[in-house]
Amino acid sequence: MVRSSRKILLYLTVIALVLIGRQIIQKKSNQMIKVTKQPVVVIGSGLAGLTASNQLANSYKIPVILLDKAKSIGGNSIKASSGINGALSTTQESLKVKDSPELFLEDTVKSAKGKGVEPLMKKLTSDSRSAISWLQESFGLKLDKLAQLGGHSTARTHRSSTNIPPGYELVSTLSKALKKTSEENPDLVQILLNSKVIDVIINKSGQVEGVKYIDETGETQILQTSNVIFSTGGFGYSKDMLEKYNPDLVKLPTTNGEQTTGDGQNILEKLGAKMIDMSEIQVHPTGFIDNANRDSNWKFLAAEALRGLGGILLHPETGKRFVNELSTRDSVTAAIQNYCPKNDNRAIILMSESLYSNYKANVDFYMSKNLVFKGTVKEMVDHYNIKSPLDAVVQGLKHYSTASKDDFNRPLIVNSFGKDVNSNTIVYYGEITPVVHFTMGGAQIDEHSQVLNTANKPLAKGLYAAGEVSGGVHGANRLGGSSLLECVVYGRTAANSIASRY
Ligand code: FAD
Ligand code: SIN
Repeated sequence: MVRSSRKILLYLTVIALVLIGRQIIQKKSNQMIKVTKQPVVVIGSGLAGLTASNQLANSYKIPVILLDKAKSIGGNSIKASSGINGALSTTQESLKVKDSPELFLEDTVKSAKGKGVEPLMKKLTSDSRSAISWLQESFGLKLDKLAQLGGHSTARTHRSSTNIPPGYELVSTLSKALKKTSEENPDLVQILLNSKVIDVIINKSGQVEGVKYIDETGETQILQTSNVIFSTGGFGYSKDMLEKYNPDLVKLPTTNGEQTTGDGQNILEKLGAKMIDMSEIQVHPTGFIDNANRDSNWKFLAAEALRGLGGILLHPETGKRFVNELSTRDSVTAAIQNYCPKNDNRAIILMSESLYSNYKANVDFYMSKNLVFKGTVKEMVDHYNIKSPLDAVVQGLKHYSTASKDDFNRPLIVNSFGKDVNSNTIVYYGEITPVVHFTMGGAQIDEHSQVLNTANKPLAKGLYAAGEVSGGVHGANRLGGSSLLECVVYGRTAANSIASRY
């Protein structure tokens, strides 16, 4: 009798453990979080997807399946070259740079030109400090150097003194953390590459139920889930979408990778999402022209940090400056298009030796690709067959380096060519042209990263978006450095929103 009661007790204990196992209770940051078996599906492994996945799996112990249609992790995020914005960061404090979320918001709203959604901009800027400290504290990233990019009132674009390009550093660090978790606990993180999402299933009561994707063998699969985060990036590579939303830009080359085809925007629009600012497509003024393939549709970006750290733009025939290189991207692009030769839409970017020492790894990379050359001012003038006399070009550089007030009201002159600049001074130079770079529009989200419908209500329970696929955060013109920030702020927000309901 006693033996059989013990058996029953043991049996009941086993059943209870199995049931608890299905609804595991994890303790994290003094918070009790219920974790069900159903993982969150994150679509896209750029910075937005990596941020959301890390926050879910490593902070909340919520299981994640990360899907990407590409064969490797990182999307466009891995290419990012200038850095990530933050106001009131510890880096700014230690470098004694004055800033505030209010000033950052002011710059963002001004650049947005009446488009976008101001509360989303407010969240972007006010959460920027914690975004930078999350990267520094949770992942050990230094982010200890700053640049002032176009349209910013102060230096707030962070990169690391490791000299590893920012996008690569962020993606490799966050993906390493996620892979480590996946190796230690495969139930917590699964990463499926070569897996292209084609649809999301939403039931009649408006709850996400699953994600449909094509796996690496070409089979269609369905993942059951109640929560999905779209982090599929922009559409700058898709000529069809450029044709649809801003046909004037179809002829321009792009910096975007071939995976940047707006899949997320198309799926979400079909599901009934409110699309916002879709025709607002950012043309970055400086894509490098590779002399070996001048007409290529794809261009390496000449990072805005090159101008932020002192690079100037010269008219390719006169060798004269023509614009405040630190105004917003749309203004610099317009100046190139209006002022430089119409037939080939190009200008020269010129950098000093001190800029080179400050941004060596990047400039070395451009030199290794034959996009930037090192030579004297005279060699530069000969290289581009500049029509003005050499002395006039030298005087122009001296004036820029010594004048008390800049001719174009450039707010910051750093790493200039020096008062002793002459025809033998060493400079670094390349040719640039405007390029399609970033799509500001997308599926409108709210401050919880929920995708909205055309009535401005959440489109479905469990449907989130973060990063370039979403719209409303930048309006008509994104400030440099604010896209990586958007990925971190709204990627974390999507994860936090899911955790609060899990
Ligand atoms: P992405 O990083 O583009 O990732 C999207 C991922 O989704 C991709 O891996 C893609 O394969 C995947 N995907 C797409 N469709 C599907 C599908 N149907 N199924 C499964 N997976 C899918 N911003 C800054 O703030 N600072 C910078 O210094 C900076 N430099 C840049 C330099 C370059 C050259 C470029 C191109 C952009 C730069 N940007 C910069 C912009 C910024 O990098 C991107 O806008 C941002 O990283 C986008 O991140 P994301 O996570 O939204 O998308
Ligand atoms: C750049 O390096 O110029 C790109 C920065 C950005 O797109 O924010």
